[in-house]
Amino acid sequence: MHEQLRRWSAAALLMSIGFAAQAQGWQVPQPTRGLMPNPAQGKALFEKHCAACHGLDLMGNDKGDKKGPPLLHKIYEPSHHGDAAFQLAAKNGVVAHHWKFGNMPPVPGVTPDDVAHITAYVRAEQRKVGIR
Ligand code: HEC
Repeated sequence: MHEQLRRWSAAALLMSIGFAAQAQGWQVPQPTRGLMPNPAQGKALFEKHCAACHGLDLMGNDKGDKKGPPLLHKIYEPSHHGDAAFQLAAKNGVVAHHWKFGNMPPVPGVTPDDVAHITAYVRAEQRKVGIR
């Protein structure tokens, strides 16, 4: 009896975690299969959708109401913030946790393909300054 109850509650727990993850949109948006992310395309998209807060030079912005951290920073190296972090940030926004710039709101109007291009651009710029 106890054993059964335990199994049942374990299953219920797993299920509710699953539902919570879905409700929170934790599934990572996937770019089109076979897409070749293009840094040049990413640059233009970054300038349009991200640069107001993250800076045209990717060094962030701490003025006005569009604040954001530098992405050319060690904490955004690929092993700490993988490409999924970019997809999730654009889709869901980010609750401030590393900085004092406030939350990042979701960015409407960018597709997963757009974000893959943007990520390729950011990675290329990161490599130029030795963040890899
Ligand atoms: C309105 C300002 C704003 C805009 C626009 C914006 N961001 Fe952000 N972003 C932030 C802030 C603020 C943070 C830092 C949150 C924190 O304290 O960790 C952040 C964090 C991030 C992170 C780190 C996520 C993590 O998991 O810690 C990534 C990646 C990111 N942004 C990518 C983007 C991309 C790509 C775009 C454009 C499609 C974009 N941001 C547009 C403000 C913005």
